[in-house]
Amino acid sequence: MATIIDGKAFASNLRQFIHAQVAQIKEKHGKIPGLATILVGEDPASQVYVRSKAKQTTEVGMASFKYALDAGTSEKELLKLLADLNANDEIHGILVQLPLPRHINAEKVINAIDPRKDVDGFHVSNVGLLGSGQKAMLPCTPLGCMMMLRDHLGSLRGKNALVVGRSNIVGKPMAQMLLADDCTVTIAHRYTEGLADHVKRADILVVAVGRPEMIPAEWIKPGAAVIDVGINRIERGGQIRLVGDVDFASAKEVAGAITPVPGGVGPMTIACLLFNTLTAFCRTMGLPEPVDMGFSLVEGVGIVQELKRAS
Ligand code: GUN
Repeated sequence: MATIIDGKAFASNLRQFIHAQVAQIKEKHGKIPGLATILVGEDPASQVYVRSKAKQTTEVGMASFKYALDAGTSEKELLKLLADLNANDEIHGILVQLPLPRHINAEKVINAIDPRKDVDGFHVSNVGLLGSGQKAMLPCTPLGCMMMLRDHLGSLRGKNALVVGRSNIVGKPMAQMLLADDCTVTIAHRYTEGLADHVKRADILVVAVGRPEMIPAEWIKPGAAVIDVGINRIERGGQIRLVGDVDFASAKEVAGAITPVPGGVGPMTIACLLFNTLTAFCRTMGLPEPVDMGFSLVEGVGIVQELKRAS
């Protein structure tokens, strides 16, 4: 029976750590990190996410600046707002909630964010820095996955890692981070042949495709660490339920460790957004970073430790 990786508890520990760091910084420097969130339009799911991000920002003692723009906002207006936020030194992190309405070019908008304030890690400069093994702002969801993997496994060196899904938000940066941690990395996607065989070889399996319970237990290597990024709403027994991309009920009997849905990766994403905001603040202020997430470890019991990046 697998260890169930408790992302909710892990995220809570990480937030406590951030809260304490913010309090110390405030006392010492009289300043606090600020995060701006921008939502364009009224997509209900995005509204929930942004509200939650803003709430948790204030809960850890940071300043939250919320911009809710109507769906008809032009690209030009959004770019003007970003230019203002880039120049505002009370704001250390900027997050534009995706997806954006169709008339706005998301790539152009993301690349208009000052890369030092790009707490999502989506700016092309941060993507390039990560890909070339340099210090970057790391995308929140894969960063949370890495923290949990590190916490559970310690060193990931030499492990066979399979990432299922190749999105810019999760799959691709996840693969880069695993590679930077010396894994042998495979990325699978909709055209991959023999997916079951790839899964069977994986010591680390990260699934981020958005297809309910598509990975059955029979494919999973006994003892593997399984990180399930999917959050799918399904109807079962007349009830709406949230399930991941992995068949959790059977997979937990085979895996060595597994994240549940809900309560696994999900809570870590926002905690990592706060972590990135704190990191952005420290870099701007020339303060020591909370932890060098170039590659370091956050332990699940609330202790944050430097871990030397293996050369
Ligand atoms: N929409 C879905 N996930 C994300 C995310 O991680 N960041 C932003 N900005 N938008 C999203």
